[in-house]
Amino acid sequence: MTTKRRRLSGVRATGRLHLGNYLGALRQWVEQQEDADNFFFIADLHGLTDAASEHDPVAFKHARLSTAAMYLAVGIDPSVSTLFFQSDVPEHTDLMWFLSSVAKKGELERMTQWKDKKGKGGGASSALFFYPVLMAADILLYDADEVPVGDDQRQHVEMARDWAIRFNHHFGNAFIVPSAVIPPAGARVMDLQRPNEKMSKSAKGEGTIYLDDSDDEVVRKIKRAVTDSAGVVASDPERPGISNLVELYATIENSTTEEVTNKYEGQGYGVFKQDLADRMVELVRPIRDRVEGLRDDPHELHRQLSLGADRAQSVAHATAARAAEALGLGPIV
Ligand code: ADP
Ligand code: TRP
Repeated sequence: MTTKRRRLSGVRATGRLHLGNYLGALRQWVEQQEDADNFFFIADLHGLTDAASEHDPVAFKHARLSTAAMYLAVGIDPSVSTLFFQSDVPEHTDLMWFLSSVAKKGELERMTQWKDKKGKGGGASSALFFYPVLMAADILLYDADEVPVGDDQRQHVEMARDWAIRFNHHFGNAFIVPSAVIPPAGARVMDLQRPNEKMSKSAKGEGTIYLDDSDDEVVRKIKRAVTDSAGVVASDPERPGISNLVELYATIENSTTEEVTNKYEGQGYGVFKQDLADRMVELVRPIRDRVEGLRDDPHELHRQLSLGADRAQSVAHATAARAAEALGLGPIV
């Protein structure tokens, strides 16, 4: 009997997932769900990185549940994958602390996400700084072989690898060394209004398509997407707006960017945007419909997630105990 490779991933609990999250991360989780042994969690502890003055506990509770509903709506099946809230398994923070002995301050200072976000709004929290150590704990706790994520998370997974190797070197082989799995297309979806920035749920506005947007919102956002004055449907790094739309079309259709540009040769942006909008509506509509149904039954969602937490904890407990023992923290006699 061959054992299935183990896959683990999560998304921060901000409530509304967007197209970048879907194409970069969740779509590949779902596509390979049956072939792997999966642990998918709602990264709610990673949702605590804002300064306290910006954190709204009531809204956060809704966001946690809503994020869980989105996982199910895109096709995560809790009878196939272990699905849970990160905060339901306290070993995540235990292991974070254990790993902090091998995670160097200078390494954390070099993280792109830290460098990008620390300046914004002033007074960045130490949780934001420590974020990659918690993420490494999430991954190593489950002996994950593969971590399917979008391109922007590659650096964090690399860090988890380095710390696993360092920990194993100093304290014995406690951890499996994981690899990031980045999808061949859709790994970096750009904002529709600012095509030089990645689509993000932090950036409010017209540049982000959410998986629960109405049909009208989806169509409007595609039609207003920033392009250029050339009027030629093309894939060209010098023309990031239209290139992003071409890549989106190709990713959704599972075709290549050349096929898309050939198909629309000699036609303007109008026809192309209309076709892309139609396809996008077809993608988003069933997800939105399912999300609405799932949000209506929070008790059932909680039930599913607490079953997942029990299963996750049994694995997490064994790994954390192994790491503790390796550090000399186990029973004294
Ligand atoms: P956000 O950046 O919107 O806050 P997260 O950081 O929680 O989202 O990302 C969750 C997952 O979605 C990660 O695997 C991340 O790499 C992926 N992801 C986020 N934004 C994009 C994007 N614009 N394109 C592709 N993948 C993305
Ligand atoms: N940091 C990831 C993000 O912002 C979310 C995350 C937290 C994660 N822990 C993880 C992803 C572990 C993969 C594995 O997207």
